[in-house]
Amino acid sequence: MTLGPVAGSDVHVVILAAGQGTRMKSALPKVLHPVAGRSMVDHVLRTAAAISPASTTLVVGHQAETVRQHFRGRPDVVFVVQEPQLGTAHAVQQTEPMLGGLTGTIVLLSGDVPLLRPATLQRLLAAHRAARAAATVVTAVVERPYGYGRVIRTNGRIARIVEERDASPAERQVREINSGIYAFDLAPLFGALRTIAARNAQGEYYLTDLVAAYRRRKRPVETFLVEDPAEIRGVNSRTELAEVSAIMRQTKNEELMAAGVTLIDPATTYIDPDVEIGPDTVIHPGVVIQGQTRVGAACEIHASVRIADAQIADRVTVHNFCLIVGARVAAGASIGPFAHLRPETEVGEAARVGNFVELKKTSLGAGSKANHLSYLGDATIGPNVNVGAGTITCNYDGRKKSQTVIEEGAFIGSDSQLVAPVRIGKGAYVAAGSSITKDVPAGALGIARGRQRNVEGWAERRKGQGS
Ligand code: UD1
Ligand code: CA
Repeated sequence: MTLGPVAGSDVHVVILAAGQGTRMKSALPKVLHPVAGRSMVDHVLRTAAAISPASTTLVVGHQAETVRQHFRGRPDVVFVVQEPQLGTAHAVQQTEPMLGGLTGTIVLLSGDVPLLRPATLQRLLAAHRAARAAATVVTAVVERPYGYGRVIRTNGRIARIVEERDASPAERQVREINSGIYAFDLAPLFGALRTIAARNAQGEYYLTDLVAAYRRRKRPVETFLVEDPAEIRGVNSRTELAEVSAIMRQTKNEELMAAGVTLIDPATTYIDPDVEIGPDTVIHPGVVIQGQTRVGAACEIHASVRIADAQIADRVTVHNFCLIVGARVAAGASIGPFAHLRPETEVGEAARVGNFVELKKTSLGAGSKANHLSYLGDATIGPNVNVGAGTITCNYDGRKKSQTVIEEGAFIGSDSQLVAPVRIGKGAYVAAGSSITKDVPAGALGIARGRQRNVEGWAERRKGQGS
């Protein structure tokens, strides 16, 4: 992906994102709604990067500040505010201070069309240049054209675009629709936009009127038909958001399966676009893998697991109902069922983390085991350590967090508390049920619990006293 303006390019990307998105019924600007873990407008920006634009301009209006905040730290994105929002032609006009007077091409995208593929944009640009067109309109033939602008042709060539509300019954029958994505020759564009009037059902300045305006002046207008209309699906409602998300997931799932990953039930497998998974890994139903996660080869991820921003090496088994966030798991390890790996956790090679075990900012060495009912936080645990059932690192005294160190080969008996800061030396033992508050030297036994006393004949005497 190219970040930042590309020197030498004469392609300028403009993304329209000023509309209100009324039908989303949301406090969040429409283009910031996530699809497969990333906002719609981020998807669009990523796609745009494929044509190495000299500049990228986002036209914002409704909740402009929120959208701008979303892109802080992206100096390559230029913002132009459209206020009030008087239509798509008016939106493009707002970029004139930036782009007026330049030569080259504007590729116009919509912030709410997140499925567009990079290859499609590259082909659009190539076709537009080859035809030396003043405008190239991306179109698609769809089953249900309702709501879209229709492409009206005369003698096979595009003559104009008519919006749903302004179309005649005959024009509404046309199934070729305007995607809202275009390539424009920069030189004549802003002059032509000034001639567009708002004489239509919505009283808006329609960018689509540019087609007829160019045709009147005998400027060449071309169309570029996308084969898969799903690619140009726009999101105007939560229903469409869900539909577009499902398409994106399906695309990702198909890519993974083609690369050798088994998905037992793709319909219930939710994998974000940036996730990488190695071959022969098997993913069971109800698994969610998010963000910048990498899963190695020959792993098995059982049902109802969520993994986010984690690194899982090869041959790892994750049993049912685990949550793994921001952790690293080395090859051959086994996690869960019901385990919780929190950020900055490292599980070593062939280590085992069992049921109801939580690890936070903890490294568990190679071959070590914490198989049952434990909280291990802010701990450095060496290799081949056995952490008994119910072990707790008491890392927090109410004010600050402290470290626990457990050295190689140590054995922590069940139901022990290790009150940090504390160190258990190499090969040391902690007796079951101990509350350890002082370091245990290497090879020693640490025992810290009440001594047992047996009272002989007690049960018999109790019976004699009656109930
Ligand atoms: C537009 C097209 C229509 C096409 C459809 C594809 C026009 C007149 N119509 O219709 O032919 O089939 O897209 O989805 O262009 N926007 C602004 N400022 C405005 C108005 C809109 O930035 O003043 C932005 C919106 O945020 C959105 C995009 O432009 O990203 C499209 O606007 P929208 O109102 O959704 O247009 P449609 O009615 O869908
Ligand atoms: Ca729209």
